Amino acid sequence: MKTIILKLATLSISIFVFGACGNAMHDMGDMNMGVPVPVTEGRFASPLVLPPTASSSTTLKAQYVAAKINDFGDVNGLGYTSNGLLGPTITVENGQNVSVDFVNQLSENSNIHWHGLKIPANMDGHPENVVKPGGSFNYNFTVNQRAGMYWYHPHPDMITAKQAFQGLAGLFVVNDNEENALNLPKASREIPLVIQDKRISSGSISYAPTMLEQMTGLMGQYVLVNGVYAPFHNVETAKYRVRILNGSNARIYNLALSNGASFTLIGNDGGLLATSQQVNNLVIAPGERADVIIDFSTTSLNSELYLISKTFDGGSAQGKQEFKIMKFITTTQVVDNYTVPSALSTIVPLANSPSTITRNFNIANVQSHSSMSNMMTHTINDKMYDVSRIDAQVEKNSIEIWTFDNTNGKEPHPMHLHGVLFQILSRTGGRSALTPLEKGWKDIALCMPGEIVKIIVQFNSFTGKYVFHCHNLEHEDSGMMGQFQVN
Ligand code: C2O
Ligand code: CU
Ligand code: CU
Repeated sequence: MKTIILKLATLSISIFVFGACGNAMHDMGDMNMGVPVPVTEGRFASPLVLPPTASSSTTLKAQYVAAKINDFGDVNGLGYTSNGLLGPTITVENGQNVSVDFVNQLSENSNIHWHGLKIPANMDGHPENVVKPGGSFNYNFTVNQRAGMYWYHPHPDMITAKQAFQGLAGLFVVNDNEENALNLPKASREIPLVIQDKRISSGSISYAPTMLEQMTGLMGQYVLVNGVYAPFHNVETAKYRVRILNGSNARIYNLALSNGASFTLIGNDGGLLATSQQVNNLVIAPGERADVIIDFSTTSLNSELYLISKTFDGGSAQGKQEFKIMKFITTTQVVDNYTVPSALSTIVPLANSPSTITRNFNIANVQSHSSMSNMMTHTINDKMYDVSRIDAQVEKNSIEIWTFDNTNGKEPHPMHLHGVLFQILSRTGGRSALTPLEKGWKDIALCMPGEIVKIIVQFNSFTGKYVFHCHNLEHEDSGMMGQFQVN
């Protein structure tokens, strides 16, 4: 009996979704029908590789590549070099000038957005500043911000998700004296991990979201780390600095170690936290970064430890499954006396005053189905992205509070602003508190269903027009993006 009722319920939902809608836009904000995409764990038999590296002066060519992905052979995807999926990690010192010659060898528009960097608007990869097929552009800017692990990816309107999913992304690391003075683990004991779920079928990274997948965001069955499916990495009995980017389109992870051990969180999107903090798990949304120290010194030789994602409460499509991401094998006994400093940096809280402007963004009631385009659309304050509309006029140097209200929402939305770093003030509803990953400087604030998240931001870098959007890239591409103009 139960089965029959369930089947009937499913049937009526599908009729509702795919049946002919009378209205052009059919509001489905109160529906909750995204389905999880289960992860298929691999064999953890292929060694982790690190992305190649590049200096501040380099050439990136968006191109079609045949990437060697273990267990899948040659896979058609996109790359910034002919080597494969991820672009090189660009490492610079704060204050350094960057000159990247971008060449678009794709048959569609592309560009590069420098995620987390405070750079002039015309260098930021705004969706209206695209490079046409066969064209090129010199991205030229001076880095003027604290050390941190930032990243880059394409940002053309409505095809960001596809290009990023198919392989276009890379890390951008800024170093500075403050961080250098801490003597954090480096060289072989500093490991960047770009975690991305992919769909691979018939020798290609396939990007063909259904309407429901445009709603939930596209998730893949295979979790790659630095472009390797289910890798392992050999470690010494020592402390390692592991710098993690969730470079997935939509999938949120709840990172933990398989033996339940805690690890030390030292930084996030915008660099070091004020103090280090022991954590047992970290919820990390698309676009977010986590800088952690993992202590392998008490692991025994030949022991295996997995980085896993634990279950969490994330709406109907996320967090339902625990799965392994990669394996660490302790292979070498060494003596390591390194201790993580507890004081890392100084974070001056941005202060609001009675005159602080507060802007409210309703991000909850955002799923609708346009029968005109047969596409799922997403909105902010009931509006889809429109390049001719400025959603917020802000004064240069002013401090504002932005409130993202997902009270009535059914899906998680990691909200992101270009060109600034901000601080997260509060969360009410849902998890009702900030997580350790949300202290310090941020460029993404995750709003789970039922949550209101308030951020405080100072627009103190450059004047010009920037976008803000949900970093679930299917949401972004289907309209969940606005513009602010710094005057
Ligand atoms: Cu990584 Cu517009 O963002
Ligand atoms: Cu960005
Ligand atoms: Cu979203």
